[in-house]
Amino acid sequence: MGSHLAWGVLSTGRIAGTFARGVSRSKRGRVVAVASRSQAKAEAFAARHSVPIAHGSYEALLSDPRIAAVYVATPHPFHVEWVIRAASAGKHVLCEKPLGMNRAEAVLAFEACRKAGVVLMEAYMYRFHPQTRSVVEIVKSGVIGRVCSIQAAFSFHLGYQEESRAWAKSLGGGGILDVGGYPVSFARLIAGAALGMPFAEPVSFFGAAALHSASGVDAYASALMTFPGDIHAEVSCGIGLQRDNAAWIYGSDGWLQIPVPWIPNREGGRSRILLQKRGASSPEEIVIETEEFLYGMEADAFAQAIADGLREVPEVTADDTLGTMAVLDRWRAAVGLEYN
Ligand SMILES: NC(=O)c1ccc[n+]([C@@H]2O[C@H](COP(=O)([O-])OP(=O)(O)OC[C@H]3O[C@@H](n4cnc5c(N)ncnc54)[C@H](OP(=O)(O)O)[C@@H]3O)[C@@H](O)[C@H]2O)c1
Repeated sequence: MGSHLAWGVLSTGRIAGTFARGVSRSKRGRVVAVASRSQAKAEAFAARHSVPIAHGSYEALLSDPRIAAVYVATPHPFHVEWVIRAASAGKHVLCEKPLGMNRAEAVLAFEACRKAGVVLMEAYMYRFHPQTRSVVEIVKSGVIGRVCSIQAAFSFHLGYQEESRAWAKSLGGGGILDVGGYPVSFARLIAGAALGMPFAEPVSFFGAAALHSASGVDAYASALMTFPGDIHAEVSCGIGLQRDNAAWIYGSDGWLQIPVPWIPNREGGRSRILLQKRGASSPEEIVIETEEFLYGMEADAFAQAIADGLREVPEVTADDTLGTMAVLDRWRAAVGLEYN
């Protein structure tokens, strides 16, 4: 595989396929193997995505010496177990969000990877899109003045289905764990940029949620966070309510709107952000264009960190993940949502 990072994809679900497509267009990675709990599913995935090796168990993939990095894309409750097992097998690990069911699980995952000397990153792919980098640069430039308020939503409407990963409590269902980490990590990122830090932690937090009567998980949820410097963030998420799924940053001298903050495009293309300067008659449109695939950019940054001998990926560090996980813990605690 030459200088390419040899990936093993652990599971054959929806996002595993999207990731494999992304890596197929990356500069530094190749998906060399896929693993499923079923040999037939692994083979079907391998055929669909031109993956050379299909393993009929996750264990077989972890003991395959041809694999250098594992992408964990199971439902959330199994993330940490497979991260730790991958680390013990000497593999670098990119794990889907949320890294664990709670912060304490994520700590165990980072400890295992530190001990094994492998890189671990939680897969917040939006951090690698040039649009996100532009937003951070604009905030840092001071053009919208002092950042006062951030609004961000990731909330979609899925009809209730008892068995589905999104709704089933046994599979870590609910909006806070599934998509709450996007607006929370975004607010922490932007508050950090405003304060001259990679990310910031809230000093206060108020959360609310509507718990689904049958499943018990949160159908939709909202939270208000305050950060140092009187920066407020209103964040919302859900699997049972469609929202605009946009992000706004309001400053003393203007505002920035990001109409599509999380997946500006999967397979390259144009995206835009709007910059309204105080006193201007209309907002300015800033166009961002890339030919690269979103999940390919994420995989390339991960490969670059390994090639550079780093212990973590600068765009999504361990402390950053643990900060987001801590907020998600507070959010669930505020609304009485527990997984056992
Ligand atoms: N970053 C993103 O853009 C993004 C988008 C969507 C989801 N995600 C994250 O990725 C993870 C997977 O989401 P998904 O939507 O791809 O889920 P999915 O389509 O339901 O796939 C999950 C896969 O996990 C494997 N699995 C292992 N144990 C399982 C169990 N007990 N029950 C069900 N499946 C099991 C299955 O693969 P095998 O049968 O082959 O073993 C299954 O296909 C979640 O943690 C989610 O938060 C991230």
